[in-house]
Amino acid sequence: MTVIVHMSDLHIGFVEFREDILINTINYINELNPDAVIISGDLTEHGYYNEFIKAKEYVSLILPPTIIVPGNHDARNLGDEIFEEVIGHRHNILELKDSKIKIIGLNSSEPDMDHGKIGRLQKQYMEREIEDAKEKGFFIIITFHHHIISVPNTGRERNVLSDAGDILYTLIEKNVNLVLSGHKHVPHVWKMNNTIIATTGTVSSMKLRGKSYPSFNVITISDDNKKVKICLNTLNNGIEEKVLYEDE
Ligand SMILES: [Fe+2]
Ligand SMILES: [Fe+2]
Repeated sequence: MTVIVHMSDLHIGFVEFREDILINTINYINELNPDAVIISGDLTEHGYYNEFIKAKEYVSLILPPTIIVPGNHDARNLGDEIFEEVIGHRHNILELKDSKIKIIGLNSSEPDMDHGKIGRLQKQYMEREIEDAKEKGFFIIITFHHHIISVPNTGRERNVLSDAGDILYTLIEKNVNLVLSGHKHVPHVWKMNNTIIATTGTVSSMKLRGKSYPSFNVITISDDNKKVKICLNTLNNGIEEKVLYEDE
C-alpha cells in the first residue's frame, strides 16, 4: 500500500493563516509517515520573498519526500521567480520507484493573474512524461493548482483552467489515474472514465466557505496500484477522517 498526503493552500502571510494548525498537520503527517506529500500551491498569500522563506521553513519540517507546485497567490509580485529561487522548479517530477508511481507537478499559475493555464509547452511536457510513465507501467498522478472541473458549493465559476478542455481531454484520453488540485479550498472528487479528479481544502488558513474547516486529503493506493481510496482529514479539535472516494 502506498500512502500519499495531498495538502494545499497554506496561505502563509494571510491575516488568518493558522500556524498552529499547520504545525499540528506536519506533526501528524510525520507520524503517519506517508510515501510522499504533494503540496498543490498557494503556499503564500502575496508571493512575497519573506513569505516564501517562511514557507520553506515549514516545508523543511516535513520528513517524507515532497513535490510542490505554485498557485495563483504565489505568482503575485514576482513570486513566480522567487518560488524558483526558494522552493524549487515550478514544474517537477517525483517518482516512487518501489510503488511504480509517478507524480507529475505542473505550474498552472500566471504572473499576477488569478485564472489558471497549463499552456501548450507544458502540455507537451506532460504528454512526454505520461508516455514515459506508461512505458514503465507506472500509476500516474498529475498535480497543479487550479481545478480542471468546477467544484460544487463554490459559487460562480471564475478560475477554472482556461485550457481546461484540452488538458482534460488529454488526461482522460491517456487514462491518467489521478489528478490533484487545490485553489477553491473545497474538497471534492469527480471521476471521469478511468480518471479520478480530486481537490483538497486549505490546510492552514481560515479562507473557508460556510462552516467548513481546514483540511487535507490522505490517498491510499493498493499494492497492485488498482484501487484508490481518498480520505478527507478535517482539523477540528483533532483529526476527523471521512471517506471521499473509494474504488470497489
Ligand atoms: Fe488558495
Ligand atoms: Fe489559488
